[in-house]
Amino acid sequence: IRRIAVFTSGGDAPGMNAALRAVVRTAAWNKLHVYGIERGYEGMIDGHFKRLERRDVANIIQRGGTVLRTARSMRFMTPEGRAMAADHLRAYDIDACIAIGGNGTFTGAKIFSEEHGIPFIGVPGTIDNDLYGTDYTIGFDTAVNTAIEAVDKIRDTADSHNRLFFVEVMGRHSGYIALYTAIGSGASSVLIPEAETDLEELKAVFRKNKARGKLFSVVIVAEGHPMGGAAGIAAQIKDELASMEPKVTVIGHMQRGGAPTAADRMLASRLGHAAVNRLLLGEENVAVGVISNEVETTSFDDAIHKEKKPKSSLIEMASILSI
Ligand code: F6P
Repeated sequence: IRRIAVFTSGGDAPGMNAALRAVVRTAAWNKLHVYGIERGYEGMIDGHFKRLERRDVANIIQRGGTVLRTARSMRFMTPEGRAMAADHLRAYDIDACIAIGGNGTFTGAKIFSEEHGIPFIGVPGTIDNDLYGTDYTIGFDTAVNTAIEAVDKIRDTADSHNRLFFVEVMGRHSGYIALYTAIGSGASSVLIPEAETDLEELKAVFRKNKARGKLFSVVIVAEGHPMGGAAGIAAQIKDELASMEPKVTVIGHMQRGGAPTAADRMLASRLGHAAVNRLLLGEENVAVGVISNEVETTSFDDAIHKEKKPKSSLIEMASILSI
């Protein structure tokens, strides 16, 4: 392996730049040539490649977003789009690619690699933490910190006015951000797709709180909740809630931005470094991850298809701590 390409794809996540920096520096240290591809698979199809050297990734470890920019590419889902991408990789003499992204990114990498024989290594970057093969994904810790900071502020006003808030956090299909935010902010309840939601039980909690004079509550709802997120849940129990002046707050995309936390910088640096090392050791079509504080690899098949769910003990703990 002499030349590699690296790109970020799918939803951005704080720490992607730290991962890119680690890839470029580890590659440079091993005398590999690195090309950065702009806007993920879109740039691969359009031939937007640029040579990246050691100094090109200076001063980015602390920046949110991705300096390579990103996209969710529909064209890469077609064989024609992938063939154009393969032509560009061959034109640049690329021996292997490092893809930083989530499930869709890894799925694209696997299909592409099978069709065109170019090896890939995946680096898990998504705030949702929904990828199998790593305890945490790059960006999750920062997103949870951002959500907790927002909920801390909402609590102040909820408490002052004795109001009930339904706060919706991100997670397309996953309750990780919601669960960690709820535990970390001391929320009254958390509603996630991985645990059954009993609205009667929730109403009973509100009634009990009301009876003892506590109207103020903060309920964290995962965006991917099957009952329709925070607005959906609030609508279903609004009659019960009239006296509590329920409010719905959607934290939204601010969870995707901001400077990465120390934990995300560390994780991203380890995984970017490991991705290059694993390629040099001859591994391919695997995702790197950190499991029990050790770097491990997982086949794309498992990373894409195996489900990762929050531990049931944590879900139980969240409810015990909120009594
Ligand atoms: O996968 C990360 C994520 O932020 C999800 O939590 C969310 O559902 C989705 O991306 C939003 O995507 P977009 O920014 O394309 O609207």
